[in-house]
Amino acid sequence: MSERVINFSAGPAHLPEEVLRTAQSEMLNWHGSGMSVMEMSHRGKHFKQIIEEAEASLRRIMSIPENYKVLFLQGGGMGQFAAVPLNLLPENGKAAYAVTGGWSQKAIQEADKYGTAAPCFPKLKSFTDIPPVADWTIDPDAEYVYICDNETVFGVEYPEVPDVGDKILVADISSNFLTRPVDVSKFGLLYAGVQKNAGPAGCTIVIVREDLLGKARTACPSVLDYKLMADNDSMPNTPPCWSIYVTGLVFAWIEREGGLAEFARRSEAKSKLLYEAIDGSAGFYACPVAERVRSRVNVPFRIQIDGTASEELEAKFVAAAEAQGMSSLKGHRSVGGIRASLYNATTLEQTQKLVDFMAAFRQEHSN
Ligand SMILES: Cc1ncc(COP(=O)(O)O)c(C=O)c1O
Repeated sequence: MSERVINFSAGPAHLPEEVLRTAQSEMLNWHGSGMSVMEMSHRGKHFKQIIEEAEASLRRIMSIPENYKVLFLQGGGMGQFAAVPLNLLPENGKAAYAVTGGWSQKAIQEADKYGTAAPCFPKLKSFTDIPPVADWTIDPDAEYVYICDNETVFGVEYPEVPDVGDKILVADISSNFLTRPVDVSKFGLLYAGVQKNAGPAGCTIVIVREDLLGKARTACPSVLDYKLMADNDSMPNTPPCWSIYVTGLVFAWIEREGGLAEFARRSEAKSKLLYEAIDGSAGFYACPVAERVRSRVNVPFRIQIDGTASEELEAKFVAAAEAQGMSSLKGHRSVGGIRASLYNATTLEQTQKLVDFMAAFRQEHSN
């Protein structure tokens, strides 16, 4: 294939072409340094400039208050499933987890290795809605309340930040990172793997309130210890330099494009277009997620014949879309169906192309 496809992958995902071109043009010789970012020492002045600019840009974009540290770590979102309890939960401590999908399910299982991780509500029969926070039971002894702000596989997203009173709120924002403004001060800790909305896989960003540092267990691996990382500017060891560099280019792109208010507007417009196409298809396409909590970035749906999902038609849909340059629309293996991820680099025009394709496919295949 000679042209770039429209990439609807859930991650690693689409990056802005402008960013890829900058990285390409700087590939062999970054800003007159005579070397690629891949080749430079993380202790040198060039990389220091790259990571400092990336942090400053993220602080501006998210209006991160002074009393929060920004860390650039490795280990992915999954690394944070362990890092959060190892840093915030004392021996025999308790934490409360809102399990709204596969990723928060994995997080609670990991946390339960290090203490008691109690669910905020009984196990949901299906991950298609989020119980209102008024119906949650939060253990009064819980050190923190954990949420996954957007469940990438099931496509459920919190419409607003749940009010957990004086409890520390911890959120996995891996898949909706930088897609809407966030009031950071409502959280004790936020984290995101960058490989969906912000860069190439390798770097995980942690935004943590300073008073939560220094509580890690003795058994906490050093690479997961927030205080050690903060005290050493995320570099007691080698950081994921290339990922941080490209992520910094994406931050700069977000600033140039108008910041999070603009990306929230785009995200609303793209997802509205797609959900309207699904809901307006007389049952040919169907999204199982309750409207109030539908994700703006991961849209799962089924293709139905007489109200029953047709795997055969879904396979045809994915193949036909692929043939027209729209890639990675197959649903997650645990859910099936179709999933379109609409991250920041995906445009309204590209979403429109998918919607047009859906209309044509429906016309061809509905009886
Ligand atoms: C919401 C969410 N949390 C955590 C993870 C795990 O991240 P990683 O693959 O970086 O470990 C993912 C991965 O897709 C995710 O979507």
